[in-house]
Amino acid sequence: MSEQKLIEGLNQQLNREVSTFLRYMLQAASIKGAEYESVRQMYLEEVMDEVEHAQYLANQIEMLGGKPELDPDLTPPAEDVMDMLKNDAEEEKEDVKNYQQLADMAEEEGLFSLKMHMEDQGAEEDEHGQEMRRLMGN
Ligand SMILES: [Fe+2]
Ligand SMILES: [Fe+2]
Repeated sequence: MSEQKLIEGLNQQLNREVSTFLRYMLQAASIKGAEYESVRQMYLEEVMDEVEHAQYLANQIEMLGGKPELDPDLTPPAEDVMDMLKNDAEEEKEDVKNYQQLADMAEEEGLFSLKMHMEDQGAEEDEHGQEMRRLMGN
């Protein structure tokens, strides 16, 4: 395990975070109807969480001597609210796995603060997924 591989992993996750907050921002803007207001509020709040995750990752890439390279996924988001929730709950699960891997890599490099932050960010993604499943009614 090299520090270079860790920087690459952090950069991949940075791109996922940026793609996610862009998608959540657009979804929050597009959702209409009183019955979906709680979903809209959830996306508005989670935009801020994902921006913080991205900021932390960008800072750490620089601290490790790397450069953040952005190539976000700009695929237009789903239009149907239930499709949004279903897709995003799956993506959040993927993020939890990625943060577990990044935490392991950071530990191998002896970077304990980074390891703890990766675990915390993973826990937040897990909570995001739970909130989405609750809003889907399962
Ligand atoms: Fe995130
Ligand atoms: Fe998330």
